[in-house]
Amino acid sequence: PLEKKWLYIALGMVALFLGSIFISLAVGIKPPSNVETIDPARLHLSEEFAEDNLGVHIQPDGRITVIMVAGRYGFFPRHITVPADTPITFRWASIDVLHGVHMPMTNMSTMVVPGYVAEVTTTFPKPGDYPMLCNEYCGLGHDYMWSKVTVV
Ligand code: CUA
Repeated sequence: PLEKKWLYIALGMVALFLGSIFISLAVGIKPPSNVETIDPARLHLSEEFAEDNLGVHIQPDGRITVIMVAGRYGFFPRHITVPADTPITFRWASIDVLHGVHMPMTNMSTMVVPGYVAEVTTTFPKPGDYPMLCNEYCGLGHDYMWSKVTVV
C-alpha cells in the first residue's frame, strides 16, 4: 500500500514532466535571449551579420553593441576588446548548428540557436582577458571553438 502510493507519486511526476515538455513545445517557449528570428541560410545577406559589420560598435548614445557570428568552429571576430564597467549588448547568430556561448568567471552564458538572434547585455567589472567558449556540443571541433574578449 505504501509502495503503491510512492509509485503513483513517481508516475504523477513523470506525467508532469512530460506534460510540461509538450506544453512548452505547443506554446513555443524559447530561451529569453532569442530576441529575433533570422534565416541561417541567408545570414550572409543580413546587413547586421555581414562580415564587415562584425565586431564592436559604439552607438550614438554611448551604448556598446557587439555583433558576432557563431559557426563551426569559432566565434567571429576571434578577438574583441571592450571597456570594463560598461553595459555591453552582445548579439550572436549561428551560421550552422546549435552553439552555446559561455565566458568563465563572468555571468555571460546563452545558447545560440540557428534561426534566432541571441542577445545578452552584461557588464564586466574586471579588466582582463576572458575566453569565450562554446558549451553546446557542435561537432568534432567543439573543444577548439572559442574566441577571446579583452576587457580594458
Ligand atoms: Cu560550437 Cu560547441
